[in-house]
Amino acid sequence: MSIAITDLFAERESERYSLHARYLNEQLVRVLKTIGFDKGYVRGVGQYLYDRHGERYLDLLSGWGVFAIGRNHPTVRDALKQVLDGEFPSLVQMDVSALAGVLAERLLRYVPYADKVFFANSGTEAVEAALKFARAATGRPGILYCSHAFHGLSYGSLSVNGDPIFRTGFGPLLPDCNEIPFNDLDALERALASRKIAAFIVEPIQGKGVVMPDDGYLAGALELCRKFGTLFVADEIQTGLGRTGRFLAVEHWGVEPDMVLLAKSLSGGHVPVGAVLTRKWIFEKVFDRMDRAVVHGSTFAKNDLAMAAGLATLDVIQSEQLMQNAERTGARLLGAFERMAQRHELIGEVRGRGLMIGLEFGAPRSLKLKASWNLLEAASRGLFCQLIVIPLLHEHKILIQVAGHANRTIKLLPALTITDADCDWIERSFDAVVSDAHRVPGAVWTLGKTLLDNAVRASASG
Ligand SMILES: Cc1ncc(COP(=O)(O)O)c(C=O)c1O
Repeated sequence: MSIAITDLFAERESERYSLHARYLNEQLVRVLKTIGFDKGYVRGVGQYLYDRHGERYLDLLSGWGVFAIGRNHPTVRDALKQVLDGEFPSLVQMDVSALAGVLAERLLRYVPYADKVFFANSGTEAVEAALKFARAATGRPGILYCSHAFHGLSYGSLSVNGDPIFRTGFGPLLPDCNEIPFNDLDALERALASRKIAAFIVEPIQGKGVVMPDDGYLAGALELCRKFGTLFVADEIQTGLGRTGRFLAVEHWGVEPDMVLLAKSLSGGHVPVGAVLTRKWIFEKVFDRMDRAVVHGSTFAKNDLAMAAGLATLDVIQSEQLMQNAERTGARLLGAFERMAQRHELIGEVRGRGLMIGLEFGAPRSLKLKASWNLLEAASRGLFCQLIVIPLLHEHKILIQVAGHANRTIKLLPALTITDADCDWIERSFDAVVSDAHRVPGAVWTLGKTLLDNAVRASASG
């Protein structure tokens, strides 16, 4: 007997929004409907999504960075089928997994200064492990993190989250976690001087807003951490595995962290996974005696499906030269957006590396545009970006969103498999929508008024 999942999907997919509104997160459904993102995709292949009518969309969100090798990659599917068909002895617990050993070996080839791997089931679990390991290894309580940082939403990672929107209402959080500004070495040094800080955790390029480190920042931070006996933890959950054109983003700045965190795309887009790559002495401080052999862990970590997906992902990144493609197409897009910024006053700044690119919009100079911009921004900070992302989806079939709450930056985080034809598609579409946004009155600003009216109506009706 088999359960007819394909038939079930076909029969019920049109009910997805009502099912979610009823049994899951209704607010998310409201958001999707308000901005017309309720497209009902029925298929995903590579960097593309397809709706019920067979219309193709270019996905620049890639599931918040999960689909670096594209959706439903045949190599990952084949690896997973082999595990299932092979009836592998996964999760014996009182034994160890061969595939986990091999995946650890292969990951460490890319990060030769690390010696050990701890596997988890998600990004936030990798962060939790790193925070615990840092305290255990140093015997210190303190954790430093940066403003606007995002490291996940469970209690440890929420305690090092630099955005109040995520923290509000969930306190008290972990003690001894302190925020410092990103790109501020003086603030870091002042905080480290107490010698009570176990770890400094940082995203090499901040995901919320695509904020780049100043050139000497990460190397300077590492040097300060060494000086004060603090561990440097690089959260590469979004930036890692080739996204920025190198295996790890820290490689651009010659930095060798004490711990490196991976997740998202290591899953091959199929089986959630997280990993902490760390130095041996840190690992041995945690797992220091036989009776502490399982002092930290998680039931599903190292399961064979996740390990096989990870192995297949590394193989695809190498064999399809995806790091090189990320570097080349990323440089092409950055160049195109910088030229666009010179033509369009609403584009304030273009930032990024490889295929992690942010386009920040800012207050225009010309009077007519300024009046409309100010009206919108006064009503809701960051709303302007929706005037860009909505027509990108509806008129140009490009799926993209802003890089955080009340943020004026739109982030491109596509699959690393995108082609020159996709880059043409992106450049053409952005140019058209941003050009339209410079016309007042025009369709883009009419959409702004509609969104504002809807928001007012929604808040009036509760
Ligand atoms: C830099 C970074 N760290 C950690 C996380 C949390 O990962 P997960 O959602 O798998 O828990 C994310 C997720 O967006 C992330 O971008």
